This record gives sequence, C-alpha cells and structure tokens, in this order.
Amino acid sequence: AKILVINGPNLNLLGRREPGHYGHQTLATIVSDLTAAANQADISLEHIQSNAEYQLIDAIHATDAQFIIINPAAFTHTSVALRDAILGVAIPFIEVHLSNVHAREPFRHHSYFSDKAQGVICGLGAQGYDFALQAAIKYLKEHNK
Ligand code: DQA
Repeated sequence: AKILVINGPNLNLLGRREPGHYGHQTLATIVSDLTAAANQADISLEHIQSNAEYQLIDAIHATDAQFIIINPAAFTHTSVALRDAILGVAIPFIEVHLSNVHAREPFRHHSYFSDKAQGVICGLGAQGYDFALQAAIKYLKEHNK
C-alpha cells in the first residue's frame, strides 16, 4: 500500500519559519521519520511539497496512493481547486496542521477540506503527522490495502 503526504506553500521553510507556531523541526526530518515509520508497517510513502497550487493538484491526479495525509498550509483557507482535486480522485484523507488554527486569526478558522476529511489534527506540531500516519496505517490494514 502507499500513502501520499502533501505539504503546501511555505512548509519548505519549516525549522526557520515562525518557530513559535511551527516548531524547530525541518520538513526533511519530519518526512524521513514518517517514511521510516510507514516502511516499518510495510507501506510506502510518497511526499510532495510545493508552493505552486497546480503542482499539488497534478500530484493528486497522478498518485496511485490509497490514502493521503495533507497539510494544505495557506491553501487550506483559499483553494477550491485543491479541494476539488482531492474529491475528484476520491482518495480518503486526513488534514494536518502544525499550529492550532482555531487559536489564530479568524481567516484560519475556515478550511475547504475539513468537512470532507476522515479526520483533522491541529495544534500538536509535527506529532500531528505521526498520529495521522498511525490512523492511515490502521485504515489501510482494515481495508486490506
Ligand atoms: C498551517 C496553518 C495555516 O493557516 C498556514 O497558512 C500554514 C501552516 C499549519 O500547519 O499550522 O502555512 O497549515
């Protein structure tokens, strides 16, 4: 089985970007830890980070993954196109945010993804990706994938 992890704009700056909100871990560390954990469960993990909306959309169209873990970053609050892409391929997904978006500016309280997600994790930092991965692995095993 395969899980696609998607990270949206500015998440390539993790480690140096507003550490009060996003912590000190780099994206490379987060992704290599996730990959190791997935591989241990016999699942392959594919990752894309892009600052360009169309590249995320194209990656969703092209994937053969059975599950998606997505942090759409700022596109969370703006992108009907990314929402339509993920609904278009009908792959189940979990939405992750490092920060607690509900404790921040009102424009971060709405998500174009949450009403369609299997689950939403926010405010737990990089740990949120680990929890999402555990849930995704359980889902795939239960669905014999
Ligand atoms: C974020 C929260 C978004 O509001 C913000 O635009 C991001 C990161 C998070 O992981 O906390 O870029 O998705």
